[in-house]
Amino acid sequence: MSIVSPQFEATLDLADQEATAALGARIAKGLRRGDLVALHGELGAGKTTLARAVLRALSVTETVPSPTFTLVQSYDTPRLPVCHYDLYRIENTVELEELALDDALSEGAVLMEWPERAGEDLPGAVLRIHLLTTGSQSRRADIAGPARWKPFLTGSSFV
Ligand SMILES: Nc1ncnc2c1ncn2[C@@H]1O[C@H](COP(=O)(O)OP(=O)(O)OP(=O)(O)O)[C@@H](O)[C@H]1O
Ligand SMILES: [Mg+2]
Repeated sequence: MSIVSPQFEATLDLADQEATAALGARIAKGLRRGDLVALHGELGAGKTTLARAVLRALSVTETVPSPTFTLVQSYDTPRLPVCHYDLYRIENTVELEELALDDALSEGAVLMEWPERAGEDLPGAVLRIHLLTTGSQSRRADIAGPARWKPFLTGSSFV
């Protein structure tokens, strides 16, 4: 029997990149060890931009490259270690195992672009964010995750 924890769902209109950065800062505040933030969305939807905003809010000052080719980049932030994955180029499940996702989640949190490449059952406490391009500067974020995210991700400072 699986226990389904109460879900939090929200749709946020992100008017510009500042709004995306504000969402990143809110995610950073709520982020805990064992959390996996699944960043869905087409090419150029803003997944890396949002991941970068989370890391910046966690006081990462070094360059945050897109991990499209390295597949994963690790950051030791003052609060917790964070691994930023991009599975766009993943070839097979063996390669996925080599990325040590379980280790990353037992030590810290994970931000993951193209999570659908890892299959449907992602490990960890999953916060799903679907980014949709609604204009040259605007995006929509459809969010679903454990109820504890609600206080972090509701409010009006996204527009
Ligand atoms: N509100 C916004 N939020 C996020 N990105 C935005 C926004 N408005 C414009 N952009 C632009 O959209 C682009 C998003 O690129 P980004 O690399 O973050 O996308 P991605 O989803 O990671 O793509 P990929 O699948 O190639 O990794 C950037 O050039 C960014 O400046
Ligand atoms: Mg990207």
